[in-house]
Amino acid sequence: MISRRDVAKLGASLLLAPAGVRAARGAAVPWWKRAVAYEIYPRSFQDGNGDGIGDFRGMAARVDHLADLGVDAVWVAACFDSPNADNGYDVRDYRRIMPDFGTMADFDLFLSRARARGIHVILDMVFNHTSDEHEWFVRSRQSRDDPYRDFYIWRDGRDGGPPTDWQAAFGGPAWQFDARTGQYYLHTFVAKQPDLNWENPQVRAALYDILRFWAAKGVSGFRFDAITSLAKPSAMRDLTPAQRAGSGAFAEIGPRLEGYLHDMYTHVFAGTDLYTVGEAWGAPHAAIAAMTDDRRGGLNSAFRFDLQLQDIRGWRKTPWRLEAMRAFNADNAFDDDPHVWPLVYLEDHDFPRAVSRYGSARPEFRERSAMLLATMLLSLKGTPFIYQGQEIGMANYPFTAIDQYRDVAAHQGWRDEVLSGRVPAATYLANLAQSSRDNARTPMQWDGSAHAGFTTGVPWLAVNPDHVRVNVAAQQGVAGSVLSFYRRMIALRRARSCLATGRYQDVSPEGRQGDVDRPGGRTGGLYAYLRRDEAGAALVVLNFSDAAARYALPDGMAAERVLIGNLPHPAAAVGGVLVLRPWESVIYAVRPG
Ligand code: NOJ
Ligand code: CA
Repeated sequence: MISRRDVAKLGASLLLAPAGVRAARGAAVPWWKRAVAYEIYPRSFQDGNGDGIGDFRGMAARVDHLADLGVDAVWVAACFDSPNADNGYDVRDYRRIMPDFGTMADFDLFLSRARARGIHVILDMVFNHTSDEHEWFVRSRQSRDDPYRDFYIWRDGRDGGPPTDWQAAFGGPAWQFDARTGQYYLHTFVAKQPDLNWENPQVRAALYDILRFWAAKGVSGFRFDAITSLAKPSAMRDLTPAQRAGSGAFAEIGPRLEGYLHDMYTHVFAGTDLYTVGEAWGAPHAAIAAMTDDRRGGLNSAFRFDLQLQDIRGWRKTPWRLEAMRAFNADNAFDDDPHVWPLVYLEDHDFPRAVSRYGSARPEFRERSAMLLATMLLSLKGTPFIYQGQEIGMANYPFTAIDQYRDVAAHQGWRDEVLSGRVPAATYLANLAQSSRDNARTPMQWDGSAHAGFTTGVPWLAVNPDHVRVNVAAQQGVAGSVLSFYRRMIALRRARSCLATGRYQDVSPEGRQGDVDRPGGRTGGLYAYLRRDEAGAALVVLNFSDAAARYALPDGMAAERVLIGNLPHPAAAVGGVLVLRPWESVIYAVRPG
């Protein structure tokens, strides 16, 4: 691994030299293991031309924000040409920048500015499906013997209906009848997102060419959308009762998927240091290990959903439990497996804001709970991903009506659940306000002006009215702000290797955790863990609660000094006992004993 000091000596150009050059230098630890990453949702980050939609010129103008924050990599969410049935996750042309976001020259400007500041750029590859407007699909649906027919999954119907009972992820059947050729095509998501046929080697070869195209432009890695949906069952059977009762997913997570990933690795990634990360819905610990084991040649890491799906299933929101978060963090440390490198995140463009979900909405606790979540995110093992706006503690939008939403999933749910009479509108809307993806997609809050400095035009999705208080300009350089805390936490993570790569041990007091959503607040949500490696040990103590909490250090442990706290004057251990204020978080350098 090239250290930061080396980078200063050699210049950022070496760090971001073409992948092969870096591989040849034989870096022992890949760059992405030490990196802190940041997701940009381009539509909502910064508008550069006043049309109300974020774009690459806007992003290029904000690279300094990312560099000042101290992140090493940026994942740019779906940004290729698309009719936007699902905000870019329905690609029409993988080699063209979405016109809403600008031109290839605008992309190049962003890329070169990011690289000049030592920031790697990771692109989003939506390879499970294309848009129905992609030329491959346009050809495929023309006739049963078109050369592109087998790029997609076409089947005859059964008894006058679809071939199987499979349901699409956003509701409705996963099969769409196409009258021209009298067959159904498969779509895991909406009908405008037909699934590609990964069994077809020509499909894979075409996708690998796209990866080479972007790698040659100088991007440093790829996030693969919906990776666990790639391998369709070889037999077209109805869902089993267990599948129906579970997530309803019909794709197979297992050897065939691992085979596809290995094939892609062999053809594109072997011998490079391009970073590959999969979006792995439904994959438990063992499946993640199988897909990302560094001896096998698959992906480098994966986004898991065990924690995210604990309290959100489609539009439904239920309480979350601290015990489940603790259990997930322990499981996701992969301390049992040195060949797996985890990824940690609390937010992305598909989930509501973490401060509204796991933190406290009470005005006196909001900022400190946002900082507590930063403390956790940035002190867990793995590559952390921060989502835009998280670094200033952006919260959910106060949605009240269906026409305030832009998300295709929100509207599909409205049709399937409410208009069909299955669910009362009030129930759906109350849940959706807490679960909707649009909570994460409201524009980035740069300042307190109209439209938060995001655009001079009319924003494509409403700006959260709290932007008058919660914005980058108000927090910039302000000691004690959420933004300053993120910077300090990122710097601390860099300075203390145990926080990034050390072993994880949960040392919470047992039996005192409960529902965070319990009305009226609660006490006892205290969570503590130890991170340690050969260089040192750190104790992370998090009080997920509206009340003060006591924590007795484990036997023999000495808290030597405070490394960081989210409130002024964190408690010193008196007689081995710490008292934490509501939503206080502290990291101590410790002697484990
Ligand atoms: C996951 C993406 O993150 C999400 O936004 C999208 O709707 C689905 N995959 C389908 O591409
Ligand atoms: Ca624009």
